[in-house]
Amino acid sequence: MTRVYLSLGTNVGDREEHLRKAIQRLQKDFALFALSSVWETEPWGYVHQPPFLNLVLGLDVPVAIEKFFVQCQAIEQALGKKKRVFWGPRTIDIDIIFWGYEVCQSSNLIVPHPCWQQRNFVLYPLLEIAPLMNPGGKSLSFWIQCCQGEDAQTVRRVGKLEGIELDTTAPLTYMDVKEQGLTLKGIVAIDRRNGMAREGKIPWNFSEDRSFFREKTRNGILCMGRKTAESLLDSFDPKERELWILSRTVSFSQKYPQALIFHQPEDMRDLRTNKTIWICGGREIYEQFLPLCSELYVTRLPEDYHCDLFLNFHLEDWFPHKCIIECHKSYTLERYQHERDMPSPEDVDEK
Ligand SMILES: NC(=O)c1ccc[n+]([C@@H]2O[C@H](COP(=O)([O-])OP(=O)(O)OC[C@H]3O[C@@H](n4cnc5c(N)ncnc54)[C@H](OP(=O)(O)O)[C@@H]3O)[C@@H](O)[C@H]2O)c1
Repeated sequence: MTRVYLSLGTNVGDREEHLRKAIQRLQKDFALFALSSVWETEPWGYVHQPPFLNLVLGLDVPVAIEKFFVQCQAIEQALGKKKRVFWGPRTIDIDIIFWGYEVCQSSNLIVPHPCWQQRNFVLYPLLEIAPLMNPGGKSLSFWIQCCQGEDAQTVRRVGKLEGIELDTTAPLTYMDVKEQGLTLKGIVAIDRRNGMAREGKIPWNFSEDRSFFREKTRNGILCMGRKTAESLLDSFDPKERELWILSRTVSFSQKYPQALIFHQPEDMRDLRTNKTIWICGGREIYEQFLPLCSELYVTRLPEDYHCDLFLNFHLEDWFPHKCIIECHKSYTLERYQHERDMPSPEDVDEK
């Protein structure tokens, strides 16, 4: 099975319908695991023609590239593609951009597509659906910056294509991340009633908790929801840490442009890193990611801070082993561990 990225384009007739029909035909044989928004592209090269609609999609393909290519051409013909004026109008164009990590060069097919770096209508949609892709050893944001010259195409996001359902993807499991070699750990502060925030902010100012957080996460990766990123980055400089943000709505963090944005947890499936990934909130992220964590650090405050957001996850369900690392009058530091990751007794000496 190969993970394949295709670019589709059309600028004749009912453009959305051409895109929809092409995708539906591809879906008859292949699993669609990702679909970008539709982007409108001003014509370039040969400019006396209507604007294009473009998108990029990801398919899992079990057949050889030559066979797949023939199938794509058959779909183009069936949808009325005529012999082509170079850069001219077309009902539907299906280009293979990436075929896994493979390179293919034959008389009628070159993959990766020879022009992918010069096409904003490929790069922008690709960034939406594969934000971690690193073609040519550089991030997609890097290639987008390289593609901003005078000849660059102007692209505009139009919106999602109605009526198309993805065929996958299975949610990430604890076993998936273990097999992938990732280490995820949670870190949270809660009050007496498991409260974690009030009116969008953490309602306490607790220096011991902040220093514990800084100490623990140094040189690691902070993984958080878009809302936490927005509130946390006002007061916390994530230097000495990488930052990963989950968001379905943004592709770029204004506050921290270096951050990697994930549009779904499953985008982490192909990642490799030796660093610890610290799941650090907020509630939506804890609910989805704590089941993927092997450990959780909890700063528990004995008072009630009248929170309006609570950690609902029942910690003992997932982390049956609890140990108290520190106990003070004003807070307790606890470590919870997943059963299969219990250290041997000599490792327990945490502090
Ligand atoms: N006490 C603590 O230790 C602690 C720690 C961290 C945060 N907090 C507090 O928690 C609050 C924020 O928590 P929250 O639950 O409201 O928000 P959050 O978890 O920080 O962020 C939620 C956002 O994350 C994105 N998201 C969530 N699931 C996603 C998924 N599966 N795929 C892609 N994106 C996804 C969505 O962003 P889009 O809307 O952009 O799609 C969603 O709106 C803040 O008040 C913060 O101060 C407390």
